[in-house]
Amino acid sequence: IKSDFGVIGLGVMGKSISLNVSENGFPISVYNREFPGEEYVVEDFLKTNHSFTNIQGFTELKSFIDSQKTPRKIFLMIKAGDAIDQMIDQLLPFLSKGDIIIDGGNSHYLDTKKRFDFLSSKGINFIGCGVSGGEEGARSGPSMMPGGTKESYNQVSQILETIAAKDSNGKPCCTFVGPEGSGHFVKMVHNGIEYAEMQLLTELYALLSTTLNYQEIAQYFLEWNKGELESFLLEITANILQKKEGNDYLLDKILDKAQNKGTGSWSSIAALNLGYPNTIMSSAVFARYISSFKEKRVVYSNQTKKLSDEKLSIDIESIKKAYQFARIINHQQGFALIKQATDVYEWNLNLSELARIWTNGCIIRSALMNDLSSLFTKNEDIIDDSKTFKFLNQFENDVSKTIQNAFSKRIALDSFCSAYNYWISMTSNKLPANLIQAQRDYFGAHTYQRIDKDSNEYFHTNWKVK
Ligand code: 6PG
Repeated sequence: IKSDFGVIGLGVMGKSISLNVSENGFPISVYNREFPGEEYVVEDFLKTNHSFTNIQGFTELKSFIDSQKTPRKIFLMIKAGDAIDQMIDQLLPFLSKGDIIIDGGNSHYLDTKKRFDFLSSKGINFIGCGVSGGEEGARSGPSMMPGGTKESYNQVSQILETIAAKDSNGKPCCTFVGPEGSGHFVKMVHNGIEYAEMQLLTELYALLSTTLNYQEIAQYFLEWNKGELESFLLEITANILQKKEGNDYLLDKILDKAQNKGTGSWSSIAALNLGYPNTIMSSAVFARYISSFKEKRVVYSNQTKKLSDEKLSIDIESIKKAYQFARIINHQQGFALIKQATDVYEWNLNLSELARIWTNGCIIRSALMNDLSSLFTKNEDIIDDSKTFKFLNQFENDVSKTIQNAFSKRIALDSFCSAYNYWISMTSNKLPANLIQAQRDYFGAHTYQRIDKDSNEYFHTNWKVK
């Protein structure tokens, strides 16, 4: 019997997706290369999961391809980057026109566009599919963000929508996102939002642990998680805080150098290129980079004035509101970036559907995402700055108090400050950018506009004071 679906790459995610597909009743073929260190991956996988009788395993590409019904639906769950191109090159001689390759990794959306165009010229369909939810999501229902052509999506929709997580109305957290690289673009922004959400929690942890112990912080987080601040990341953070190894907290044993695989910086680069101020996710990326300078930090910290041991008086209600404020800004910036991209690239993305497929299965699922999804459905959203910013007014005092409190204990709040700065500037009728214009004109004759003249007129001044 020929398989309905093929998965290439039996890493953690590939294994989980394969079991998910198999469990949902679709006969599946899996392939992993035979490579030093990976000789028994397929054999071990089949042995461990022998009760899944509709899985066929291969270490040879041609027989893997031949084992599938046409048009073949081949899901790549391998490392993003060159490995994808190499795999495509190896697959091409065995494929037939109309076959579909789905890249489920965190590929860069511009690479996806190139691969889409290249494979189209060969008569092969290519779907760049963001997949979120980690190992557990992949196994029991991820959020999926496929981009390509609607026609090729229609051929895989039954399988993808069956294996995906379901929203609160039972609809799959998988939808056709849009053309070529758009699926990977939105997954990249999803990750940018994820970076900022993680960083905000990290900053809260730093601030709260000046006064509270980990159990106490976890209790607050669990309490918050019952209300409008509910999120998957808040919940796992509360669990992490409570994890012990013997008498010690495991968290205290972890080296404080944050790593990354690039999607956060890609989001920030996309924002820079598209001219959209996605300041909060960028600050989260830089905070990770700063953390990596551990050795230098140790040296410099020894040269810094020591603070008194006096405990900070924590205003938990203010901190909670500051957190709510920063999360709203983060989501506002993330969705606005997607909107900017859809306008510039003419992708015609449906933001309401995106918010909906992020309500379950993915890492940034949260009560806020649920609210956003309903708002978008009613044709309202938080990209409308005017309403969002009016709403955020109520948090002003709490945010500034939280930031000042943190600074008094030398706690860096990269992402909170970034959210606050953005909000202040976006709600300022006058900014000092007039001086930037004057400086540009001074040294480079770049010209400036005047408030007392027509906006189409540009002026240059000889600035040298004689
Ligand atoms: C997801 C995650 C997933 C992965 C990140 C980690 O949605 O399931 O985003 O894709 O956890 O890629 O990224 P960093 O290694 O860059 O933190």
